[in-house]
Amino acid sequence: MKIGIVGTGNISSRHLDEFNNMPNVNVEAVCDTNQKNLEIFLSNNKDSDIRGYLSLEEMLEKEKTFDGISNTTPDKFHKETTLQILKSGYNVFCEKPLAENYSDAKDMVNAAVQSKKINMVNFTYRESSAYQKLVQLLKSGEIGNPRHVSACYYQSWLTSNKWGDWREEDKWLWRLSTKHGSNGALGDTGVHIFDFAVNAVGDIKEICTDLKTYFDKGNKIKEYTLDANDGFNSLVRFENGAIGTITNTRYATGHANSLILEVFCTKGALKVELDEERTKWSTLHICIDENINKMAWDTIECPKTPSNYQNFIESIKTNLNMQPDFYQGAKIQNIIDKCIESNEIGRWVDI
Ligand SMILES: NC(=O)c1ccc[n+]([C@@H]2O[C@H](COP(=O)([O-])OP(=O)(O)OC[C@H]3O[C@@H](n4cnc5c(N)ncnc54)[C@H](O)[C@@H]3O)[C@@H](O)[C@H]2O)c1
Repeated sequence: MKIGIVGTGNISSRHLDEFNNMPNVNVEAVCDTNQKNLEIFLSNNKDSDIRGYLSLEEMLEKEKTFDGISNTTPDKFHKETTLQILKSGYNVFCEKPLAENYSDAKDMVNAAVQSKKINMVNFTYRESSAYQKLVQLLKSGEIGNPRHVSACYYQSWLTSNKWGDWREEDKWLWRLSTKHGSNGALGDTGVHIFDFAVNAVGDIKEICTDLKTYFDKGNKIKEYTLDANDGFNSLVRFENGAIGTITNTRYATGHANSLILEVFCTKGALKVELDEERTKWSTLHICIDENINKMAWDTIECPKTPSNYQNFIESIKTNLNMQPDFYQGAKIQNIIDKCIESNEIGRWVDI
């Protein structure tokens, strides 16, 4: 299968590796409007015969045999580039967040439905096998009904140099600027933690969100105004009656990239804790039966489950669109819009 990649920045090398590591799947061509980034990508992959282009238009004009295209452009460009890809008749695997807002996300869903092409969004943390098992156990009803949910996403790139200096690199600076299409932590990583919670527990009925931007980190660097939120806390009421908190920050010193989901149900509790190194991604924590009175937790080691990249390829082969699709991407985008609304009016809002 032949794959194209639009955008050769930070995350594109992961897409390249994931696709090229699958049998009979090859990244054939890439494009980027930034010549320097394109050249770095091509020189890092000199041994392959990947062709590079300076625009999506040129790539689509010169390459006619893709089976699918990965969209790894910044959030702001997802809509226009994805619509172009779909219009050209290709299956599309789009990075999260699907769009900048719900209205754009709905346009993307409609275009995907009309095109009848495979459409998926890269909600990475679904790739944890422990998370997949947690979802399966919750849906089976074995643990009873969810009552209380705690979902946290912690990063610390504003307080550590683990991923470089955010003050100097465009790939971090655009994430801090609304003018550059970022909805801050909420749009960047908040989408992951909302997808994580909603896909496991069920839809959210009402939400109350507090967004926070810390201006003491500075107001402006180069052309970037640093006005996007750095973190948020949301109180949520789920359709099924459970309540919960969903939180995310870039100031979580000591955490490179941690997602923690705890679901307390009427017959037990489940917990997953994902780390940057993926060492904990297969371990599910469970407290049920006699352990409930002992405050004791067992662990279940869960066999590896397919990656989103593998599911995208499988969807193309079978013509059955696997999850997470654009519809799910838009559902999460709606929650993001509602968080912004709730923060603005200072009240709970219906989803
Ligand atoms: N799923 C995940 O866990 C995960 C992780 C990191 C990033 N992401 C997402 O991936 C996307 C890219 O993030 P990144 O960190 O790689 O950003 P980046 O800024 O490092 O790279 C984006 C690249 O896209 C290029 N680009 C911009 N507009 C373009 C266009 N119209 N055509 C072709 N190229 C274009 C830029 O020049 C840049 O090289 C974002 O939407 C981000 O949210 C997802």
